[in-house]
Amino acid sequence: MKIKKAVIAAAGWGTRFLPITKSLPKEMLPLLNKPLIQYSVEEAAACGLELVVIITSSGKREIEDYFDRRFELENILSQKGEHRLAREVRCLCDLTDICYIRQKEQMGLGHALLTAKNIIGNEPFTLFLPDDIFEYGETVLRRMLDISEKHNSSVIAVKPVPETEVSRYGIVAARRLEDRIYEVKDLVEKPSPGEAPSNLAIMGRYVLTPAIFEALEKVTPGKNGEIQLTDGLNGLARREPVYAYEFIGERYDAGTLPGWLETTVTLALRNPELGPRFRNYLTALLQRTGEPTSRS
Ligand code: G1P
Repeated sequence: MKIKKAVIAAAGWGTRFLPITKSLPKEMLPLLNKPLIQYSVEEAAACGLELVVIITSSGKREIEDYFDRRFELENILSQKGEHRLAREVRCLCDLTDICYIRQKEQMGLGHALLTAKNIIGNEPFTLFLPDDIFEYGETVLRRMLDISEKHNSSVIAVKPVPETEVSRYGIVAARRLEDRIYEVKDLVEKPSPGEAPSNLAIMGRYVLTPAIFEALEKVTPGKNGEIQLTDGLNGLARREPVYAYEFIGERYDAGTLPGWLETTVTLALRNPELGPRFRNYLTALLQRTGEPTSRS
C-alpha cells in the first residue's frame, strides 16, 4: 500500500531547552534560518507524502502560523522587489497539506501518537521526531519506505551508538537479514548499559503499520511513567514482523543544547553561502582560544 501520510511529534515541553521553550516551541528553534520542524516537513514532502499531521500541544501556535500564508509580508516583499524572498515565504505553505491535532496531556510519545489514530485510519504511515536531523534524510526515508512496502511491515531507523549512550535511546535486539536490514526481536526504552540487548539505537524516523495503534492501546506506563512508543513497538513485533534499517550518514540530535550547537555548526559549515566565511571565523577563533591566557 502506498504510504501517503506522515506524523510529526511536536507536543513535548522542550524542558531540555528551558527557559527559551517557556514561550517558544522547541520545534521552532532555528537551525540556520529555518525552524527545526521544517526539516521534517521538507523531508516528508520530498518523499511524496501528501498529508503531514503535526501533533502539537498548548503553547505551540507559532508552528501553525509559520506554515500559514502571511499576505501582508508577501506583499511588502514583492513591493520592495524582494521577489525571491516573497516566493520563499509563499512556498512554505505549499510544501504539503498539513493538519494539526493537540495532545492534551503530555503522557509520552506513544500517547502522543495515539492522538493521531483517527486521522491516520487503517493505513501505514511515517513518524518523524523532528529533533533528529539526518544528513541524508530524504534518502534514508525513501529506503525505509521501500523496505516497508516490500515487506508490508513497520521499519525503524537505527544506528549503533557507544555503550555509554544506550540509556539515551530506545534500543533494539535484532537479527541481521541482509546488509543494513534487521528483523527486530525485542526493544527496550532507554536501558542502562547493563540491560541493553545491543547497541543499536532507534533514531527518529519510523514507518509504521496501523497495527501500532492497537499495540499502543495495550501499553502501560513505562520509562519515566510515560506511554512509550518503544513499548508499543515491542507489542507490535510480537504480532507481526518489524524491521530495522541501519541508515547511512550522520544523524544530529538538535533536541539538546550541545546537540543543537553541533547541528548548527555542521549545517553552517556545509552551507555553500555561509560555509567558507564561517570556517575562516571558526579557525581563527580556535587559534585565538587555543593560545595561553596569560603570558609568562
Ligand atoms: C525518543 C524515543 C527513543 C528514541 C529517541 C531518538 O526519545 O523514545 O526511543 O531512541 O527518541 O531520538 P527522546 O529523545 O524523545 O527522549
